[in-house]
Amino acid sequence: MLTGRRIVLGVSGGVAAYKAAYLARRLVEGGAEVRTVMTAAATEFLGTQTLAAITGSAPLLDLFGGDDPSPHTNLARWADAVVVAPATAATLARIAAGMSEDALSTTVLAAWGTPVLLAPAMHTEMWDHPATQRNVATLEADGYTLVGPESGALAGGDEGPGRMAEPEAIVAALVRMLGSGDLAGWRVLVSSGGTREAIDPVRYIGNRSSGKMGNAIAVAAAARGAAVTLVTSVPPPAGERLPIDVVSVETAQQMAQAVWSRAGDSHVAVLAAAVADFRPRDPAGTKLRRTDGTPAIDLEPTPDILQGVAAMSPRPFLVGFAAETGSLDEAVAKAQRKGVDLLVANDVAKEGSGFGTETNEVSLIMPDGTTEPWGLMSKREVADRLWDRIRKMRTGDPH
Ligand code: CTP
Repeated sequence: MLTGRRIVLGVSGGVAAYKAAYLARRLVEGGAEVRTVMTAAATEFLGTQTLAAITGSAPLLDLFGGDDPSPHTNLARWADAVVVAPATAATLARIAAGMSEDALSTTVLAAWGTPVLLAPAMHTEMWDHPATQRNVATLEADGYTLVGPESGALAGGDEGPGRMAEPEAIVAALVRMLGSGDLAGWRVLVSSGGTREAIDPVRYIGNRSSGKMGNAIAVAAAARGAAVTLVTSVPPPAGERLPIDVVSVETAQQMAQAVWSRAGDSHVAVLAAAVADFRPRDPAGTKLRRTDGTPAIDLEPTPDILQGVAAMSPRPFLVGFAAETGSLDEAVAKAQRKGVDLLVANDVAKEGSGFGTETNEVSLIMPDGTTEPWGLMSKREVADRLWDRIRKMRTGDPH
């Protein structure tokens, strides 16, 4: 995803600096060459040896005393992109004002013309301060890209906006900024979660889907540079805070409308939601009373969302899911019946597979009936392998 990209990671002095180590590791794992620069305050929070061990070269701490007479300009010229994470209020102020006071701000100033991503982290009061907000507006007007901050737990037990974006979200923002994800330029539609069909204002017909598989598919696509819309009946992926456009729905009918109105504009649709097949024909307007006796609930079919998308022309590359219990024989017939490009089948009754688990054991079913069993793996790994396959099938590129 970032193969061969040269990234300068700047770390300034906030408690979120510890997350810069994870970020550096993710960048290296993504194929980037990483060099780091730290402020003096950052070294109070994160060991220089930690970054050196992860990236393979010692962080730049000082402009003077080393062998290189101009380390900041050399580092800035070397970089394809600069990421500052965390970017404290002071670091944002220095960059906004063009003050080259330390190795980090001097490198950023020297990197003019190179894309720079800033991940602010500070207490809410400092983030809300008009001076910081002025600096942020200046930075954005100057062409800097910001990711976060998020709302959440802060140092000292405080809570609120100011928390640094998670490393995964920073990598995704970087991939997007560089246009370098292997799904860059793709518009992707994903559905997740189980629908709820009202019996009365209190009760519903639902299912055990947690939405974890569909959410993982959306997260993986966003992390690889796609523009993702997630139509979901469950809370969207927490913690990762990727740039995902979330459409919240509850019923099969709402999900159908949300999916059908967006599918025509999508390159790929992965419909992982567990949609109710039947709904109460005439839901009660008021709560059904025990004292009124056992109710008879008359059901009617819901729209088949997947088949609706399959019938569109032009239609997106279409991936369906099949929840089975026991044999997957029925899933092969389902792949043909539903008119999908790919069906992901799983036995939801099997240990470690299906609803609510962190792992999944799926089989890929092609329209010609060929079945490819994948072993037990995390849902995120299933998601990434699925995108590898979709990319290969759509583009013919084997890599
Ligand atoms: N699906 C859909 N709309 C429905 C029901 C299912 O779009 N009303 C989609 C699901 O999102 C999934 C695929 O169809 O991608 C298969 O769902 P599944 O429940 O396994 O299949 P069904 O069509 O319901 O078939 P069966 O009940 O016979 O297993």
